[in-house]
Amino acid sequence: MNNLGKNKKLLLAKYPNGLAELDDFISEEVEVPNIVDNELLIQSHYVGVDAALRLIVRDSDEFLFRVQPGDIIHANIAGEVIASNNKDFEVGDFVTGALGVQSLSISNGEGLEKCDPSLSPLGSWLGGFGVSGLTAYFALFDECKPQPGETVLVTGAAGAVGSMAGQFAKLAGAKVIGTTSSKEKCDWLVNELGYDVAINYKDENWYEQLEAAAPDRLNIIFDNTGGSVMNESLKLIAMHGVVLLCGSTSQYYQDEMSGPSNYIWLGSMRARLQGFVIFDYAERYAEARKKISQWIDNGSLKLPEFVCDGDIEDFPSAFKKLFEGKNFGKMLLKLPAAK
Ligand SMILES: NC(=O)c1ccc[n+]([C@@H]2O[C@H](COP(=O)([O-])OP(=O)(O)OC[C@H]3O[C@@H](n4cnc5c(N)ncnc54)[C@H](OP(=O)(O)O)[C@@H]3O)[C@@H](O)[C@H]2O)c1
Repeated sequence: MNNLGKNKKLLLAKYPNGLAELDDFISEEVEVPNIVDNELLIQSHYVGVDAALRLIVRDSDEFLFRVQPGDIIHANIAGEVIASNNKDFEVGDFVTGALGVQSLSISNGEGLEKCDPSLSPLGSWLGGFGVSGLTAYFALFDECKPQPGETVLVTGAAGAVGSMAGQFAKLAGAKVIGTTSSKEKCDWLVNELGYDVAINYKDENWYEQLEAAAPDRLNIIFDNTGGSVMNESLKLIAMHGVVLLCGSTSQYYQDEMSGPSNYIWLGSMRARLQGFVIFDYAERYAEARKKISQWIDNGSLKLPEFVCDGDIEDFPSAFKKLFEGKNFGKMLLKLPAAK
């Protein structure tokens, strides 16, 4: 054993029923073994709090990836290499990877990405400069291809992906409408991120507000939430429009997931329902980051973050807050090791 202290890790205690509760998780501390040849030891600084976790902690074998009771909670972390027997990584390097909710991780380097905090702060490599921003970038520009003057609806607009997708659509010259769950978040979308219109989907007349905001219909529906907002919006899809299935947050915690009954509008409008997984674009991350950096430098793009300070055992309450819609932008758990 080495003298690095103990590794705090978070495990799934039991499958959640509905929204995940604090007692669905359990933390434990374990000794950290010495690293062997080709291995490196990473200290986590930030943990990404991602909605998709709720989909993989379901009591179901329908999905390719799954976390079961007793397994470590899956998450992306950003951290620092503190010991290395691997020629590709040095002590002091910063990395991101899917290393799970734990303070210390041993890796052989596979699947890790080096980050340069001088390009963008470390936490943002999990958010706007990381998977969330890259998802918004490729899903919008490569799959939806917005044109100046078109109308784009982003659901889950104030979230990690949505807050970036809306800004990208504005940069493409589109009219951008977002949906979220409160007046405060709507004001933030318009005043801070430049959305043209933001609609509180909890308002009784939210659909009438959407109809009024999109007189020329919706060329692109960038959907992060699924559920009734996405379903009703399909009635406004434009001729040859695109519905981009980025995520279905409203369905992840339902016993029975439901799809859009209004799909019929896609037929008459010759529209396309498009699936998307960011990992298909892994070879092009550097290209997107170059563009994102330019927009940050010229002041036309923000990387919104919602940082919760805490330790490994605080992850469950952050995750609960995510599904309560408390976050403005990417939710991050900032661990004590982060300066
Ligand atoms: N396809 C890909 O490659 C890819 C990559 C990354 C993420 N994703 C997906 O993209 C989606 C957004 O992810 P994210 O990381 O950016 O999460 P996020 O949007 O930052 O966080 C989740 C948000 O979902 C909203 N929400 C919660 N319950 C809801 C409900 N019942 N109905 C509608 N909205 C609800 C809340 O915002 P409100 O306050 O607005 O309700 C909450 O802030 C997720 O579905 C995720 O799985 C896909």
